[in-house]
Amino acid sequence: MLIPEVLIRQECLLGEGPVWDASSNCLYWVNILPGDIHRLCITTNEHTVFNVNQMVGAVVLRKGGGLVAAMQHGFYYIDFDNKTLQFITDPEEALPGNRFNDGKCDEAGRFWAGTMPFSENEPAGNLYMLDTNLSVSLKVPHVTISNGLAWTADNTTMYYIDTPTRHIVAYDFDVQTGGIANRNIAVDVSHEKGYPDGMTIDSNNMLWVAYYGGWQVVQYNPVTGEALQRIHFPVANITCCTFGGPTLGDMYITTARKELPANELALQPLAGSVFVIKNIGSTGLPTNMFKG
Ligand code: BGC
Ligand code: CA
Repeated sequence: MLIPEVLIRQECLLGEGPVWDASSNCLYWVNILPGDIHRLCITTNEHTVFNVNQMVGAVVLRKGGGLVAAMQHGFYYIDFDNKTLQFITDPEEALPGNRFNDGKCDEAGRFWAGTMPFSENEPAGNLYMLDTNLSVSLKVPHVTISNGLAWTADNTTMYYIDTPTRHIVAYDFDVQTGGIANRNIAVDVSHEKGYPDGMTIDSNNMLWVAYYGGWQVVQYNPVTGEALQRIHFPVANITCCTFGGPTLGDMYITTARKELPANELALQPLAGSVFVIKNIGSTGLPTNMFKG
């Protein structure tokens, strides 16, 4: 049985978006609501937090150094070491009821990130792609809570989660153009406890899905729809997972405290911490970086 350990005890209201940086052996993640970007360097144990003064949905590594973030008010370059930001563009300037949520880069170095309304209950969000020339295209409209993104190792399929639909959908993916087509439901997870949130893929193209309110991460074969493994956590709101560590054989998992009443928090003192499962038995794919 796989047992998660606490990597770092934290009280993140909405810990999300773990990203492994192999060049420095550091893990980044965000605490969306207060606008904190965290970095924990695994070899030195050095923990640094940069508050960006607005909600931050996701960060990705930038090939040229630093990070790129999808935030409440659009896309920004982030110089984490010098704690500065530079605005890129905001496709939703006219939609103040939305903020960016989860995001990730594809193999060609484009940044895919989606938005959600603060209400979390109407399909007012969208999935966008920030290209390497800094142009933005709308890829999927009418999304309620834009979450998990993953691409197969051969880049022919993209998986995506709009949380309240409780479906993991697949698109044919064209890595040359960033085109997606032929949407279909790969895994119907409506019978699972909790809501599918962040997701990652392993080198055998199996998906690992974090369940908000579900106390678990579940591994699926997206071709057959079969659940392969379940990992139980001592906290309810599991938000996202990624592979990391020296051989990409460890899994890092973020969690959240928001909306937990005091009696629940007393039972889940580790809510908001980041967990690790060392040598999980699968390996991840190298982290894609933004090439713009
Ligand atoms: C969002 C949260 C939401 C959660 C569960 C997260 O990605 O950031 O606001 O509550 O998904 O649906
Ligand atoms: Ca999420």
